[in-house]
Amino acid sequence: MIKGKHIILGITGGIAAYKSAMLARLLIKAGAEVQIVMTPSAREFITPVTLSALTGKPVVSEFFTANTGEWHSHVDLGLWADAMIIAPATACTIGKMAHGVADNMLVTTYLSAKAPVFVAPAMDLDMMAHPSTQANLDLLRSYGNHIIEPASGELASHLVGKGRMEEPENILRVLESFFSRGSELSGKKALVTAGPTYEKIDPVRFIGNYSSGKMGYAIAEELASRGAEVTLVSGPVSVSCKHSGVRVVKVESAREMLAASESVFDSADIAVLTAAVADYAPASPATTKMKREGNAVPTIELVKNPDIAAALGERKRPDQLVVGFALETDNEESNALDKIKRKRLDAICLNSLRDSGAGFAVDTNKVTIFTASGAKIPGELKSKREVAADVVDFISKSLRK
Ligand code: C5P
Repeated sequence: MIKGKHIILGITGGIAAYKSAMLARLLIKAGAEVQIVMTPSAREFITPVTLSALTGKPVVSEFFTANTGEWHSHVDLGLWADAMIIAPATACTIGKMAHGVADNMLVTTYLSAKAPVFVAPAMDLDMMAHPSTQANLDLLRSYGNHIIEPASGELASHLVGKGRMEEPENILRVLESFFSRGSELSGKKALVTAGPTYEKIDPVRFIGNYSSGKMGYAIAEELASRGAEVTLVSGPVSVSCKHSGVRVVKVESAREMLAASESVFDSADIAVLTAAVADYAPASPATTKMKREGNAVPTIELVKNPDIAAALGERKRPDQLVVGFALETDNEESNALDKIKRKRLDAICLNSLRDSGAGFAVDTNKVTIFTASGAKIPGELKSKREVAADVVDFISKSLRK
């Protein structure tokens, strides 16, 4: 999968830079063409001679070669690359990348790169845990960059904790799986629902919930990044979709979400229903703003909303795969299993509000996948992007069966 790929390996000034030589060698052995771009301080940790000998290409680290005046074009490099990987990435470079501080060849190349970018942080455990580093990593994630989380273990400081750069073999595996994914779902169409629904009480008030849409957007982006043609039917959210291949249909109420979902469901191979659909809607929303009148407390009569998952489950063909989500606070497993049956789902991803870090609005989630055939696939607490990758791995495997 890596064979013939153009890879920029960006190296920054951390002790783990010595491992980059091994990474360069592994990439070359896998058939990649590797261009090393080093920050000036990386040269204090590993010499360009070692790296250029391994890659067969001169290392780039300055904007131009001092004695000849030859200019190194970060723009051309950025366009040449099929992927850029920064390993090790120090807190300093991560900060510069997050904020566009383009004062060296590596960061300018990063800003010019059109290709996917992978970042393998390496630093002391306290630097890694610092809110500033974490916020910068979140910014990189929000730009669509892939963060290869550092491992826990003994660090250069002899302290033990999270901050060791991931081993070169594992970084290679991440790249390999990325390149092999690119097309695994090509030709497949997917419907994803996401976010809350708002049910009008009057022109300025609604019944809604705390759903942020983050999980559903991550799933839509993951499906698209593996080649699927995705329609994302989204309730009102403030997140935006970062994959240009996703068609976003914005809706407000459950009824609108049902209509938009039904219109694409028959041509879809996959449906992932992450939306937190309001169960009830006001029976007759007021057409003008309801006024406070004396001490009278208004009564809002509610009607049941359609169950989108159940409606789609009802018309599901055997060649379609429908995956639901269930957010539970108690009797999690039995509620989830019951929903699989009632809504005729093929699988349900259960998240419990009892798990801290799981559920609405946060950037992490912990999901267990239950299948209609009785399998149970437990998951760890991970970023929603990583949970999305696990869910799409499951979908992809199920379609191949
Ligand atoms: O019944 P509950 O809301 O817990 O079911 C969760 C699953 O059903 C989710 O996949 C959700 O998107 C879907 N659902 C739906 N329409 C509803 C209620 C839930 O599609 N009205």
